[in-house]
Amino acid sequence: MKESQTWIGKPVSRVDGYAKVTGAARYAAEFKSDGLVYGVVVSSDVTKGKILKIDSRSALACDGVIEVITHENRPKVSFWNRKFGDQDSPPGDHFRALYDSEVYYSGQPVALVIAETFEAARYAAKLVVITYELEEYETDFHSRLEEAYAPKETKPGFEKPKSRGDADEAFSQAPHKISAEYDSPTQHHNPMEMHATTVVYEGDDTYTIYDKTQGTANSQAYVCQVFGLSPKKVRVRAPFVGGAFGSGLRPQYQLYLAVMAAKKLQRSVRVVLTRQQMFSFGHRPASVQTVKLSAGEDGVLHSVGHSVTAETSQLEDYMENVVSWSGMLYKCENVEVKHELVKADIFTPLDMRAPGATSGLFALESAMDELSYEIGMDPLELRLANYTEKDQNYFGRSFSSKELRACYEQGAAKFGWSKRALKPRSLREGKKWIGQGVATGVWDALHMKSTASAEFTSKGELKITSGVTDIGTGTYTILTQIAAETLGLNLENVTTSIGDTDFTPAPLQGGSWTAGSMGSATQAACFAVREKIFKLAKKLPDSPFSDAELSDVLFEGGEMLLKKDPSRSVSLNDVLKSSRVDSVKAEGTSAPNYLKELPHARNTHSAVFAEVKVDADFGMIEVSRVVVAVAAGKILNPKTARSQILGGVVWGMSQALFEETVTDHRLGRILNHSFAEYHIPVNRDVPEIDVIFVPEADSIVNELGVKGLGEIGIVGTAAAVANAVFHATGKRVRNLPIRPDKMV
Ligand code: MOS
Repeated sequence: MKESQTWIGKPVSRVDGYAKVTGAARYAAEFKSDGLVYGVVVSSDVTKGKILKIDSRSALACDGVIEVITHENRPKVSFWNRKFGDQDSPPGDHFRALYDSEVYYSGQPVALVIAETFEAARYAAKLVVITYELEEYETDFHSRLEEAYAPKETKPGFEKPKSRGDADEAFSQAPHKISAEYDSPTQHHNPMEMHATTVVYEGDDTYTIYDKTQGTANSQAYVCQVFGLSPKKVRVRAPFVGGAFGSGLRPQYQLYLAVMAAKKLQRSVRVVLTRQQMFSFGHRPASVQTVKLSAGEDGVLHSVGHSVTAETSQLEDYMENVVSWSGMLYKCENVEVKHELVKADIFTPLDMRAPGATSGLFALESAMDELSYEIGMDPLELRLANYTEKDQNYFGRSFSSKELRACYEQGAAKFGWSKRALKPRSLREGKKWIGQGVATGVWDALHMKSTASAEFTSKGELKITSGVTDIGTGTYTILTQIAAETLGLNLENVTTSIGDTDFTPAPLQGGSWTAGSMGSATQAACFAVREKIFKLAKKLPDSPFSDAELSDVLFEGGEMLLKKDPSRSVSLNDVLKSSRVDSVKAEGTSAPNYLKELPHARNTHSAVFAEVKVDADFGMIEVSRVVVAVAAGKILNPKTARSQILGGVVWGMSQALFEETVTDHRLGRILNHSFAEYHIPVNRDVPEIDVIFVPEADSIVNELGVKGLGEIGIVGTAAAVANAVFHATGKRVRNLPIRPDKMV
């Protein structure tokens, strides 16, 4: 690599930005096909029971209505083995839409109406009359806490909580202690783009599927399994995804229903879910957590206890890492952690931006704040007193890199933390109490096996392709930057095409692993192309490179040049032309090097500082300022990186103050399944957010030293806001969101 980089680390604007703002970027529901028909989903309006009868006569009598598919007349599917999963399925019997007469949850898809127009299908969907036999249900896991259990089988990626030492004994002996219960509500992913699938029927039982997904390969494998199709007959594309946040990690029922209809009718079919139906296939689970902390006079932790009980469905055991962070974030010999589930008559929860850490860190970091007041110590000092350079969850292994201390320092300096009064309820401006809070964030820096393909043509164009999606995080842009950097080209000469199972296989886009993993794969592909071009150049008559090694040359400005004599150069396309080669192509793979990576904890970290103003009369809370300092390895693009953090911080504010899915447990139905009533921050609610990227060199996480940013912005933010609310008012709210009625 060159000393200074041309594209990597530069605030390049999104390469797909123009296509997005002009509408040229097409999303799953926007692809056209001759003879396309439209499917509208009929959702169950009962919460549990059996379908006795479906009367489709009035629906079928409507002009343009083609078919009403139900469990009674659906085509054959090979769900013979309910254990077959997808790349993100938890253990259990997976949900099968329109499989039989069972209704497991309110909003379950029970029929699909297909018509020549969307309007006809939507109208007819209201005319389908379904008779149910009702059964008893319980949608509120809180009323079944005594049934909590620890599942034996867990999902890959779930870390079994590991306790150490004797937390009970240490707690009983410690001079300072707190024990508190924290409540997090259910939340639903609500990306702007609703889940949608357009299946283009290509004839001969062959399908091109435009799906809203975070994993084209995942959707393809699912469709092939369920419908017994060969992957050769199923191509899945997702060139653009309008946000997903985890909702596209599993193949969702609109995909299944659209393919089923296309297969049955041998026609192209589109199914788009409504905003209300976006609340019917997975969510961040509601949970109850208990945190017990104890410490000495110096603030040094004597014990950490963290247990969580979370909701799951009757079908599957969904688990996420809620408590494991509490064993690794601070130095402590006595840790007791526990994770249990309670079954309710709801759909299975689903990974949602920083799954587990978002709720777990709210509890832990609120509790740390409570402990700081109990000791009478500055909350930032308390965290520094317990700083650890070792991951005690894993036998004290070291971190691949950890600049959290610098995050605390730089964030505090920018925020002006040292000027903060220790005492709560001590700063007032007119009618408003002002408070300041801090919290720590931590997330994984995961490395997933990824492949990309690079092709350089004699016209001087570089084409990057991969199956990976861009859910809005900036993947197109960073892959383009990395490719241009590696071959020394301008961005204009690089075209990145992704989200297609015809391209090289890629993992799900999620877990913040895409930038590091796919970026490294893209770099590897470009290195391989470089080597091929270099070999061609060496063989040219009178080549200035005949005696050179690859390490003796630089790739810059579309040319290859000798480091020790840069006047000796040749343009890359000339190399191809002179060699009579149209293009040079190579694949690159990046995969975890376990020997190198596993001996280290690999994490991103953040320090979040928030200021709030709380109306003394009405309890309205306004976040007036946020400073977040993030350590996430190498930053590929400070502009798109900052956007990721802004989005995360706004969501953390949302978690703290606004967001909750409200269920009427008598009916078992969600009450606020619309943007009118599912509250999220609007621009007016969002203050100035200062994002600091703390430099962090990491030669272990992956080839690029990039740790990923999709999730670290949300973690810690809710606790920082909640802690600021306490500092402002002296009132501790432990059940989110902190609505005004909880303040007065
Ligand atoms: Mo994220 S929950 O890995 O999309």
